[in-house]
Amino acid sequence: MDKFLIRGGNVLNGTVKISGAKNAALPLLAAMILAETPITLTNVPHLKDVNTLIKLIAGLGITMKYEGDTVTADTSTLDNYFAPYELVKTMRASILVLGPLLARYGEAKVSLPGGCAIGSRPVDQHLKALEALGAEIEVEAGYVLAKVDGRLKGGEVVFDMVTVGGTENILMAAVLAEGTTTIRNAAREPEITDLANLLNKMGAKISGIDTDTLIVEGVESLRGCEYAVVADRIETGSYLAAAAITGGKIKTTHTDPNLMEAVLEKFEEMGAEVTRGEDWIELDMQGKRPKAVSFRTLPHPEFPTDMQAQIMAVNVLGRGFATISETIFENRFMHVPELCRMGANIQVEGNDATVTGVEKLQGAPVMATDLRASFSLVIAALAAEGETVVDRIYHIDRGYEDVEAKLQSLGADIQRIH
Ligand code: EPZ
Repeated sequence: MDKFLIRGGNVLNGTVKISGAKNAALPLLAAMILAETPITLTNVPHLKDVNTLIKLIAGLGITMKYEGDTVTADTSTLDNYFAPYELVKTMRASILVLGPLLARYGEAKVSLPGGCAIGSRPVDQHLKALEALGAEIEVEAGYVLAKVDGRLKGGEVVFDMVTVGGTENILMAAVLAEGTTTIRNAAREPEITDLANLLNKMGAKISGIDTDTLIVEGVESLRGCEYAVVADRIETGSYLAAAAITGGKIKTTHTDPNLMEAVLEKFEEMGAEVTRGEDWIELDMQGKRPKAVSFRTLPHPEFPTDMQAQIMAVNVLGRGFATISETIFENRFMHVPELCRMGANIQVEGNDATVTGVEKLQGAPVMATDLRASFSLVIAALAAEGETVVDRIYHIDRGYEDVEAKLQSLGADIQRIH
């Protein structure tokens, strides 16, 4: 099992190119199932989760080609509607093939994704929404068996809570339904906008994009096109956090400041100088020690849960103290005990964590538990005294392309040890 060996103390400086967003690439890949003619995605990040979903879609019989950052799909060879547990259990977002398969072929057998470290992560909202469009859904032996006679029917969908995956699944089902669908309490994450933009480029009729109410006028069929995956706002914020904790100055390119205003405002509250460009963001900590910042995670456009662990890591060495509330997932503080092993002072009460900034951290052997927690441990290790070994970094490879190369290019002393 790979590990990272990190020697702390280097100040990060330089420029890093941001990759396409994992959380956009996954729904966009699922949407390829809807295209009657060959469809191409560019700016696709090289990640384990992307490879897993490409393998799953190829398992449907769809002809997939993956060269460089470009994926092409030809759905004319599709010959089954089955998404097996072996693949779905390693990548929960596989549930996103359910909506497109139902919409286009009227049938799907998709394994229920297991829970994961950060929470039980049920898909009840996905299933309820698809039933509202006329799908017949059974859950049997860990599989969702879904079918519809003829086409799905447009209707009214109201989500009980904001769900990114639920919104994506129902959006990909509604585009081919008969009639109009209204989706209320829809998620507004930039990755939803990216999916809606791709679907409209394929010939769908979606309005209300970027709002919490999406209106979808069903069409007969969707055609292929070429589309670039939106930049990864979480990868961007993760590298900016690494610069902040080391007092450095970095520029992130091929990104978009408009995707992440709530996060950039927190960096400014820390005392960083943040400059925004058309497709770049520069953060200059000017050698200062960041001020600890409080926040609560909420659906977009508020502060994203996927940046919670990374900003907590910066707070650990911050001036003063901060309170962090995690309102999206029920168990997303697993990085806390690992940060405490390095000398952090963090008290957790349910979904609230209080971080009291300390003067220094000691490098120590720590263990990654989930994707964003693994990056938060790297951030702390970059500023800790001495050596840190981060174990189970297969988690980080799920969501960060070329992570050690990008960090090394910014001056970090990090090696992958097998
Ligand atoms: C997406 O997960 C992201 N993953 C997550 O990123 C992100 O943390 C999350 O949205 C919230 O922004 C991808 O896009 C692939 P949800 P998703 O449905 O869609 C509950 C990362 O680190 N819920 O918005 O699974 C759920 O349990 C990952 O890149 C139900 O109860 O998240 C959670 O508490 C982690 N029933 C809350 O809603 C449902 O049917 C939000 O979940 C669906 C969700």
